[in-house]
Amino acid sequence: MVSKSCREMIEVSNINKTFMLGDSEVRALNNINLRIEPGEYLSVMGPSGSGKSTLMNMLGLLDRPDEGRYLLNNVDTLVLDENARARLRREKIGFVFQSYHLIPRLSAQENIEMPLMLAGVPARERHASVAIILEKLGMARRAHHLPNQLSGGERQRVAIGRSIVMKPAILLADEPTGNLDSNSGREVTEILEHLNKEGLTLLIVTHDNAMGERARRRIHMRDGLVISDKAHEAA
Ligand SMILES: Nc1ncnc2c1ncn2[C@@H]1O[C@H](COP(=O)(O)OP(=O)(O)OP(=O)(O)O)[C@@H](O)[C@H]1O
Ligand SMILES: [Mg+2]
Repeated sequence: MVSKSCREMIEVSNINKTFMLGDSEVRALNNINLRIEPGEYLSVMGPSGSGKSTLMNMLGLLDRPDEGRYLLNNVDTLVLDENARARLRREKIGFVFQSYHLIPRLSAQENIEMPLMLAGVPARERHASVAIILEKLGMARRAHHLPNQLSGGERQRVAIGRSIVMKPAILLADEPTGNLDSNSGREVTEILEHLNKEGLTLLIVTHDNAMGERARRRIHMRDGLVISDKAHEAA
């Protein structure tokens, strides 16, 4: 599913991001340096407010740092205008969030299909891609269910389907199992890990130690700083 030619290297150097809220200043990212090879599997852990989501949004080109450099496969993403950044994001990056963000009026199948529609992919091709993904996620029998007719784990599987339908090289998951019970959480994690085995670069933000320890590389943040970044044996 993930072609080798679209694999992307992430290189972030001296990234800073400060938010102003009234008179108070929050240093959300404090001199972050990261190099992430194509196909890596990382977890990002740390207390609430430590900058995990800010980092993911920055890596996902949803937000810009105040300072620093962010190269995506040698392309300097910070000099690009918003259109070029949006294009890069659409082509290279998938997102999965804690609260799914599905469109309530659309079925599972239609939610997954949406990015292809927006990209102008012809119907026949769209339906073929979506059918493969539904099958892969074990959701073929739920294709016509609306989000409110699905369990939390099933909704998250649909959200994953939508995030991979454009065949991104990088998947950013911000607490993807945060709203799930442990069984559905494990299933969702296994799906994400399977995608990583196929070549997708996977970053997972989690508060769950056991989940964080499944990743080979584990980053810990505090107060906007990366306080540790270690590689471990595969779990
Ligand atoms: N848009 C914003 N405006 C002002 N401050 C913000 C904004 N976004 C984030 N912050 C602040 O930046 C810091 C980092 O926030 P971030 O959302 O990255 O934390 P987090 O590690 O993801 O926390 P959590 O585990 O609760 O999701 C926090 O102190 C937060 O209050
Ligand atoms: Mg967060």
